[in-house]
Amino acid sequence: MTETLVPPQDGQSAPKRLFIKTYGCQMNVYDSERMADVLRPLGYATTDTAEGADFVILNTCHIREKAAEKVYSELGKLRAMKDERAAAGQGAMTIAVAGCVAQAEGEEIMRRQPAVDLVVGPQAYHQLPELLTRTARARGERIGADFAPVDKFDALPAARGGDGVTAFLTVQEGCDKFCTFCVVPYTRGAEWSRPVAAVLAEARELASRGVREVTLLGQNVNAYDGEGPDGAPSTLARLAYALADIPGIDRIRYTTSHPNDMSDDLIAAHGALEALMPWLHLPVQSGSDRILRAMNRKHGRAKYFDLIDRIRSSRPDIALSGDFIVGFPGETDADFEQTMDLVRRARYASAFSFMYSPRPGTPAAGMAGQVPAPVARERLHALQTLLWEQQTAFNAAMAGRTMDVLFEKKGRQPGQAIGRSPWLQSVHVDHADHLIGRIVPVEIEYGQQNSLKGRLVKQKAVHGA
Ligand code: SAH
Ligand code: SF4
Ligand code: F3S
Repeated sequence: MTETLVPPQDGQSAPKRLFIKTYGCQMNVYDSERMADVLRPLGYATTDTAEGADFVILNTCHIREKAAEKVYSELGKLRAMKDERAAAGQGAMTIAVAGCVAQAEGEEIMRRQPAVDLVVGPQAYHQLPELLTRTARARGERIGADFAPVDKFDALPAARGGDGVTAFLTVQEGCDKFCTFCVVPYTRGAEWSRPVAAVLAEARELASRGVREVTLLGQNVNAYDGEGPDGAPSTLARLAYALADIPGIDRIRYTTSHPNDMSDDLIAAHGALEALMPWLHLPVQSGSDRILRAMNRKHGRAKYFDLIDRIRSSRPDIALSGDFIVGFPGETDADFEQTMDLVRRARYASAFSFMYSPRPGTPAAGMAGQVPAPVARERLHALQTLLWEQQTAFNAAMAGRTMDVLFEKKGRQPGQAIGRSPWLQSVHVDHADHLIGRIVPVEIEYGQQNSLKGRLVKQKAVHGA
C-alpha cells in the first residue's frame, strides 16, 4: 500500500477553500470527489466558486478539441483572479490542472499558462497532498505520466458519496481498444479492474450513508475482470450479484460498455437480477461496416443487431442508449444513411452524438477524406433530430404506467420531488418531498422530451386490493 504524506492536522486554523471544476465524463465526477476527500484532512473544504478559493483544480477532458480548449480559456480567467488576489495581499491561489488534458499535454499547459502551479494526471491523485506541500517550495511539478491505478485506488479514501441516494463507483479504468479516433487509451492507460473486495467495501460504505443506487464506472466497464474472493478474475455480472446482496443497495447500473465485451453471463443477469436496472449504454459510433472498420471498433452492424436482439430477449423492456460520431474521415452520404438506418432499427431511449474531432496522436487524425465541417454539421442535425424523436416517443409511451421511482431531491415547486425511473428518466412528482431516499410506486401522467410527470399511487391501488 502506498503511503500518503499527510501533514499533521491543525484544528485551530480556518478551513482553506478548495474549488474543483469538472469537465468530461462521469469518471471525472467520481475522481473530483476523491480529490476533495484526499484534501479534506489537510483542512480543505470545497466551495462552489473559484472566487476567493485558496486552491483551484480543473479536472479536464481531452476527448474533443472543444473540451480541451475550454481549459485554456478558463485558465486565463483564473490567472487574472490569482493576480488580483496577490495584488490585494490576500494570499496565494494555487492552480492545478488534473484529468485527461493534464495527462495528454502536461508540458504544453505549463508553457501556455505560467499561472498553473501543478499538473496531475488521473493516476496520481493520491499524491496531491504531497504535491501541494512540495509546490509551496517549487513550482512546475508535473506528475502522473506513468499509469499505476493500483496505487491510486489503494491510497485514495473510499467514496463517501455526497448526501445523495445515488453514487458513482469506479470499478475499471483505462482502455485497450484503441479506436482510431479516441484519446482515452493514451490519457487513462491500459485496462485495469479493482478487486471485488475493494468494490464491495466501497459499496457498503456508500450504503451506510444512504446510497441506494450505484452506477459502476469504467471506460470499458463490461471488460471488468477484477480479482474475486477466490483469487480468480471475476466478471461484471458476478460483481453485480455480489453488490445486490449488500443491504441498502437496491439498484445497479454500469457504464460505458463496449459491444465486444457484452458477455453471455452479463446478458443473462439482465433477465435474472432484479437490482440490475433495465438500462444499457452500448455505444456503436456508426452504422456503416466500412466506417466501423476504419474506426477499429472490431465488430460490424450485424453483430450489433444480434447483440441487442439477445439483450432484449433477456430483458425485453431494456432502455438502450448509445454514442455516435458523424463525419469520421471517409464517411460518405451512404455511410451516414447506414447510421440513420441502424438508429431506426435499434430504437434508442437516449443517445449522445458528436461531430468527429481530430485528436493529436490518434490514427484517424491523419486519415484521408476528412469531412468538411458543414457536411458533418448537417449530418449531426439530422441524426440528433431522429434521436430526439426516439427519446420523446420512449418517454411518451410511459404514460399510464406505474413504476418504482427512487426519489433523489427536491423539485422547483414547493413539495415537489424529483426521482429516477428504472429507465433513468427524471420523474417529477408533487407532494412527494417527504419521500426522498425511498423507492415508491408512481403512476406516470405524461412523458416529455427530458422527463416524466407522475403522481403517487396509494399502496393498495398498486396491489389491486
Ligand atoms: N469508452 C466509451 C466512450 C468514451 S468517450 C466507448 O467506448 O464507447 C465518449 C464518446 O465520445 C465516445 O463514445 C465517442 O462517441 C465520442 N468521441 C470519442 N472520441 C471522439 C472524437 N475524436 N471526436 C468526436 N467524438 C468522440
Ligand atoms: Fe475510446 Fe474506443 Fe476505448 Fe471507448 S473503446 S474509450 S471509444 S478507444
Ligand atoms: Fe474526457 Fe478523459 Fe473522460 S478524455 S471523456 S475525461 S476519460
